[in-house]
Amino acid sequence: MPTPSMEDYIEQIYLLIDTKGYARVSDIADALSVHPSSVTKMVQKLDKDEYLVYERYRGLVLTLKGQRVGQRLVARHDLLERFLSVMGVKEENIYNDVEGIEHHLSWDSINRIADLIEFFEEDPARMAELKEINERNKE
Ligand code: CO
Repeated sequence: MPTPSMEDYIEQIYLLIDTKGYARVSDIADALSVHPSSVTKMVQKLDKDEYLVYERYRGLVLTLKGQRVGQRLVARHDLLERFLSVMGVKEENIYNDVEGIEHHLSWDSINRIADLIEFFEEDPARMAELKEINERNKE
């Protein structure tokens, strides 16, 4: 299992490759607000653990294992954003809150949260009730 920090890197590398077609050390450093030397170090570890293949002059490519994990992490991130959004959390708080919690929940919790989203989304009356409570408790 990748550590939380490895997960952050795999998630960002997956997103960069998905959106730009490639992931350079400098892009990863920008995305995670870390020094490029930290990226190089982590990329070497991810290479050793077979999440990606890193060649200094050709850049990096996710292995099948890296792609699978990356896809799962991005799906988890999206699910948690949906969760906070359904719960009525303000848009501006959602991304950072998800980055803060995503590595610390078991897949059991993630799957139960998915059920809860379904519970609300399948019934507009329930959603409306929750919105009412949100309004009532808004500061
Ligand atoms: Co994330």
